[in-house]
Amino acid sequence: MIGGKPMRIPKGDGLGMGRVLEETPRYLIETARELMAAPPIPGPSREPRNVIIAGLGGSAICGDLLINWLGGSIGLPILVSRNYALPRYANEHSLVIAISYSGNTSETIRQFLEAKEAGCQVAAIASGGRLEELCEMAGAPFLRVRPGFQPRAALPFMLLSLAHILKSYGIVDFSWREIESASSLLDSMRGSIGIGAPEDRNEARGLSRRLLGKFVSIYSAESMSGVARRFKDQLNENAKSPSRFEILPEAFHNDVEAQWPIPGSVAILIRRRDEGKEEAILLDQLRDLLSEGGGPVEEIRGLGEGLGSILSCVYFSDYVSYYLALEKGVDPTPVRRIEALKAALRGRGYLA
Ligand code: PA5
Repeated sequence: MIGGKPMRIPKGDGLGMGRVLEETPRYLIETARELMAAPPIPGPSREPRNVIIAGLGGSAICGDLLINWLGGSIGLPILVSRNYALPRYANEHSLVIAISYSGNTSETIRQFLEAKEAGCQVAAIASGGRLEELCEMAGAPFLRVRPGFQPRAALPFMLLSLAHILKSYGIVDFSWREIESASSLLDSMRGSIGIGAPEDRNEARGLSRRLLGKFVSIYSAESMSGVARRFKDQLNENAKSPSRFEILPEAFHNDVEAQWPIPGSVAILIRRRDEGKEEAILLDQLRDLLSEGGGPVEEIRGLGEGLGSILSCVYFSDYVSYYLALEKGVDPTPVRRIEALKAALRGRGYLA
C-alpha cells in the first residue's frame, strides 16, 4: 500500500523490486527515527586517525554515498575498501566499519578479521550472518538492519546506519532533519516517476526507453562519484545491462581521447543542483564535447541540496534501471551470476 492505495505490481517484477523503490522514502524516515531512538553506540576507546569502510557491491556503495554527502567535513582519511585484504596502514589508530547486507560476504569478513588482528577498532552493519556473530564474540558495536531485502535495495537502512556510527563517534555531523527533508523530496518525486505515474509523463520511464539496447556511459564530478557508480551498478544488477562510469576532472585526462561518442552508447551526466562553479564548468564542457560528437547526451539533475541532491539522483536512476529491466523483460531482483560466482569461488577455496 502506498498512500493508502494498493500498489499495482508491474508484470515481470514478480519479486517486488518496484515495491521496495516505492517504499524507499518511508524506509528512510523510519530508519532515521529508529536510529535516533536507539541506545547510543559506545564511543571509540581511542580517537581514530583514519576510517576504513570495508565492503563490496551494494553494501560498499553506502560508503561512497556517505563520502559524497559528508566527506567535505571529515577531517580524517576515509577509504572504502573493496578488497579481500585491508590496506597495510590499518592499525590500532584505524576505525574499520565492515558493511555487508548478508553479513556473509567472504571479502568483508576477511577484512573484519584482519582488522581485529591488526588491533583496529571495529564495528559492523549487516542483517545478521557471520558478521553479527563475530561482533558478538568481539564485543564490537553491531547495527542490525532489516532482513529480507536485496543488498542494493537496503540502501536506506545501511547508509543511515553507517552515518549513525560515524556520528556517534564524532567523525561526522548532520541533522536528522536533513533526512526528513530528503525523504519528503523522494516522496514527492515518486508521484511523477513512480509506478503509478502517468507513463507518457514519467521521465524515468522515458529515459529507460532511450537506453534500451544501448551501452550507458555515466559521467559525474567527484562530488557525485558514488551516485555515478550506484547508477552503473543498478543498470548491471537490475537491468542486467552493461555500463561504465567516469569521473571528472579525471576523465578529461584520458577518457576524452577515446572515440567519443562510443558507438551505440548513450552518455548520461549526473549533476547536483547545488553544484559548485568548477563542477558546472567541467560538466558543461563535457556536455558540449559529447554533443559536438553527435552522440545522445542525457542529464540527470538532482533536486534539493546536500543529501537530498544525492538521493534524488539515486532515486531517479534506480527507477531508470528498474524500468529498463521491465522494458527488456528481465526480472530486476535476482542476481544469479553474483550468487553463482560466490559459490564457485568458495568451491575453489577462495578465502577459506
Ligand atoms: O547487490 C548485490 O547483490 C551485490 O553487489 C552484493 O551487495 C555484494 O555481492 C556483497 O554482498 P553483501 O552486500 O551481502 O555483502
